[in-house]
Amino acid sequence: MVATQSPTTKVTRKLNVEVNGIVIGCGTNSRVLDAVREAGFDVPTLCYDERNGPQGTCRMCLVDVEVDGQMQQVAACTAFTSDGMSVTTHSDNITEYRKTILEMLLSETASPVNCPKCESFKKCELHVAAEEYDAKWDAFPSLVPREKAVDDNPFIQRDYDYCISCFRCTIICNDWEQAGAITVKGRGQDNSIASYFNNNLLESPCTFCGQCINTCPTGALTDKKIVGTVKAENLERTKTICPYCGVGCGIHLLSEDGELKGTEPDFDAPSRGSLCVKGQFASWEFVKSGERLKYPLIKENGSFRRASWDEALDLVTSKFTEIRDETGPDSLVCWSSARTVTEANYLMQKFARIGIGTNNIDNCSRT
Ligand code: SF4
Ligand code: SF4
Ligand code: FES
Repeated sequence: MVATQSPTTKVTRKLNVEVNGIVIGCGTNSRVLDAVREAGFDVPTLCYDERNGPQGTCRMCLVDVEVDGQMQQVAACTAFTSDGMSVTTHSDNITEYRKTILEMLLSETASPVNCPKCESFKKCELHVAAEEYDAKWDAFPSLVPREKAVDDNPFIQRDYDYCISCFRCTIICNDWEQAGAITVKGRGQDNSIASYFNNNLLESPCTFCGQCINTCPTGALTDKKIVGTVKAENLERTKTICPYCGVGCGIHLLSEDGELKGTEPDFDAPSRGSLCVKGQFASWEFVKSGERLKYPLIKENGSFRRASWDEALDLVTSKFTEIRDETGPDSLVCWSSARTVTEANYLMQKFARIGIGTNNIDNCSRT
């Protein structure tokens, strides 16, 4: 029999696009923003979160494009590339245009000096762009403040004096998380972000997943437990996995001087930044609990005393053996934990099945 060569998929890049003099090949459905980034450049994208898709509302990503001798300005996040397109990301006109937009946005927000996100996490996207374009906060008359949110929940600090109406929060809440907890209220300059009925998140469908905090490009939405307790310049991030359940979402532990302060989602993990309320707001607090067991305890005469591991394990072995011999292996059950690693769970079921001789083994994250 003659061996045939296995078929291969040939990916053909069809469009040649030039970005600031660098020619790259693009797929037919690629946006101008993809081409700009692939060529190694960047533009500010205040209303863009790739999970939400392009909105085209902030106009910060505007670039000059030339196709067949025709010049035009397009929003890079929404416009598609075409063959022979030439893109210029930082012409004098565009740079001045971005600076003016930023100054208008800054005029709608409270002082950058007190921005909660910049103060406790890392510089927010709005203030990073403002610094880059030397945009002044007081270039236009101030339009602050906005309607205050009912600040009743234990997790999310809402300070809409920093809101730029990009609507990333409402889109991520409704389309990505499918929670439908927040929406846009009012029109034009009077618009604001609100939860349904009385703007009380605790009485809304909010699951406190934290996605709105993490997509918000300003200090309007922040983690209430952390903000004000740390300085952004001291904050260290450690990449790890949320220990709460077996799904294993990616997180960063936030610490200052070796002390745990909170968590943030890891957008590079397969979970792409999604977390539940436990991962977002509570996956670190038990580490500091005064009730945490740190060594074996044996209960004698109604109270616990500290024991060595050898003593504790010998006692457990003798009790298990006694019960199994008296009433049979199925009178015992083993519960394993989603907070341990897969290998430990594997060993636990081996212990149940082979060590004790029962199939009574379960785990809260079995699927
Ligand atoms: S925490 Fe999650 S569910 Fe609640 S408003 Fe924000 S995105 Fe919506
Ligand atoms: S709260 Fe943040 S994410 Fe929501 S519209 Fe305002 S600036 Fe955008
Ligand atoms: S990022 Fe493109 S219009 Fe806002």
